[in-house]
Amino acid sequence: MTVPARATARRVRQLGADLAIARVVRETADAVSVSFEVPPELADDFAYRAGQFVTVRVPIGEAGYARSYSLSSAPGVDELLTITVKRAPGGRASGWLVDNAEPGMTLRVLPPSGLFTVGESARDLLLIAAGSGMTPVFSILKTALATGTGHVTLVASHRSPADALFSAELADLEHRHPDTLTVIDRFTSHEGRLTPDQLRDAISSARWQDAFICGPETFMATARQALGSTPTHRVHLEQFTSIEGDPFELEEVATDAATGLNAEVTLDGQTHSVQWPAEATLVDVLLSRGIRVPYSCREGDCGSCMSKLVRGRVEMACTDALEEEDIEDGFILACQARPVEGPLQVDF
Ligand SMILES: Cc1cc2nc3c(=O)[nH]c(=O)nc-3n(C[C@H](O)[C@H](O)[C@H](O)COP(=O)(O)OP(=O)(O)OC[C@H]3O[C@@H](n4cnc5c(N)ncnc54)[C@H](O)[C@@H]3O)c2cc1C
Ligand code: FES
Repeated sequence: MTVPARATARRVRQLGADLAIARVVRETADAVSVSFEVPPELADDFAYRAGQFVTVRVPIGEAGYARSYSLSSAPGVDELLTITVKRAPGGRASGWLVDNAEPGMTLRVLPPSGLFTVGESARDLLLIAAGSGMTPVFSILKTALATGTGHVTLVASHRSPADALFSAELADLEHRHPDTLTVIDRFTSHEGRLTPDQLRDAISSARWQDAFICGPETFMATARQALGSTPTHRVHLEQFTSIEGDPFELEEVATDAATGLNAEVTLDGQTHSVQWPAEATLVDVLLSRGIRVPYSCREGDCGSCMSKLVRGRVEMACTDALEEEDIEDGFILACQARPVEGPLQVDF
């Protein structure tokens, strides 16, 4: 007779919050803006910076699909937390939102996250966007005009005038900020795909220190090429991909003293001492302890959990969101990092 295997306690917690849709606006034939009501008790959790995104569980089938959507709203400018979703041809989840999202419906949403944000508001900005890539860029543009003193140049590539997102709001902003906002629209149906030379010409007289680029992969490569040798830290890129796993589900990690290595984690100016078990990622350890850590995809793609390993050694299953120089500088993805050698010290 074999001894029955001991059942391991598996405590699973659902992350995020159920938010009610307050408003749905059809932006184009293929895109809608969906605004959520954030109850006062969740206001801190859902505070955000321009350019960040939320991850939504799109309720198709039993498990649903987790999909990230940038916020097109701007903090301090727009009252409601708003995403803008464009139908991806053949896509599994975006079309469902475009066709079915309606006021009163509730969706599970993870708190805002992401590093595609502006630091100093006084700097001159160059924003380069195509298609749904307009969403985070529109948020950044509204915040820069509302709070900054720098100049903003937007180069926006659309398939046709009918596909242009936020065109009425942009025309209004141009009218209200004639000295600080320049909008250059490009239509691929009339003018063909933008080339690096054309983009270089278009921005030759623009004044800028930081560039923000978002759009399809080939468009982003064109834009990056046009900016030539501009140092990486001045060029911010946001890549849109679909999440494959389920970042809403957290298998709670036992963090008693017998199970892990000592780690000191500094977050929002506060230092936490935690036990970090070998089989657990740092994000899961912190979430299990109820510590508010930045995360979203939990699969190494979005970079939200990027932090610095100051002491100790970790291994990571995936480092997609890190550049080689980030790794050389000691940055890690806390959602991928498992401890190898302690004691450890990590700063967010
Ligand atoms: C940080 C971030 C912010 C984002 N912000 C926005 C935003 O503001 N607005 C927005 O609209 N989107 C945004 N996205 C993209 C969004 O998360 C989804 O990736 C997008 O909506 C497509 O999801 P889907 O389920 O419709 O398509 P998927 O089913 O994931 O498919 C994506 C594409 O791949 C193709 N495809 C799917 N399966 C296969 C296969 N087996 N073989 C070949 N091709 C296949 C589909 O035809 C489709 O064109 C963002 C993504 C990230 C990471
Ligand atoms: S949470 Fe997305 S890379 Fe870690």
